Amino acid sequence: MSHAEDHEGTRRDFLYYATAGAGVVATGAAVWPLVNQMNPSADVQALSSIRVPVDGVEPGTQITVKWLGKPVFIRRRTQNEIDAANAVDMSELPDSDARNANLLAGSPATDANRSLPAPEGSDSMAEEWLVMMGVCTHLGCVPLGDGAGDFGGWFCPCHGSHYDTAGRIRKGPAPENLPVPPAEFVDATTIKLG
Ligand code: FES
Repeated sequence: MSHAEDHEGTRRDFLYYATAGAGVVATGAAVWPLVNQMNPSADVQALSSIRVPVDGVEPGTQITVKWLGKPVFIRRRTQNEIDAANAVDMSELPDSDARNANLLAGSPATDANRSLPAPEGSDSMAEEWLVMMGVCTHLGCVPLGDGAGDFGGWFCPCHGSHYDTAGRIRKGPAPENLPVPPAEFVDATTIKLG
């Protein structure tokens, strides 16, 4: 190849790449609005992690907060609720997996594995706090709480699923325990979700 041919070839390549580049830019501009719509909106991204003050939550009560567009139940359980959950034989559980995003997959569904570790420096009882998605694992209804259902925990009226005081499915069509989302105490009275 002569020097002149080499130079011409290089220039042709340059023109080709320049044209292709312009094409990519044009395509990118056309596609962008669609891609942008498919991304989570800015307010959803901003809420991917939230902090929830729980100092006003008394034993035996719960609050429901919205996280990533879904309800999350935060319950401060009584000793009776904790004892009831611990009294259950693991072999009675339809779903033996803790379904806890903070633990390894497949961890057994003991009450300790379902509950949130008590915050350091607080007077909370171990296993007192239960945090879980308020979404029935059957078809996604929001279960009723505050001692509802045959097991004193939550009841989904849509098709009759009963969850116990640790949010574990005990009876009805729901296949899995209510999932525990990523959660931790960041100080004595604040839970971080996500
Ligand atoms: S959605 Fe809860 S039992 Fe069907």
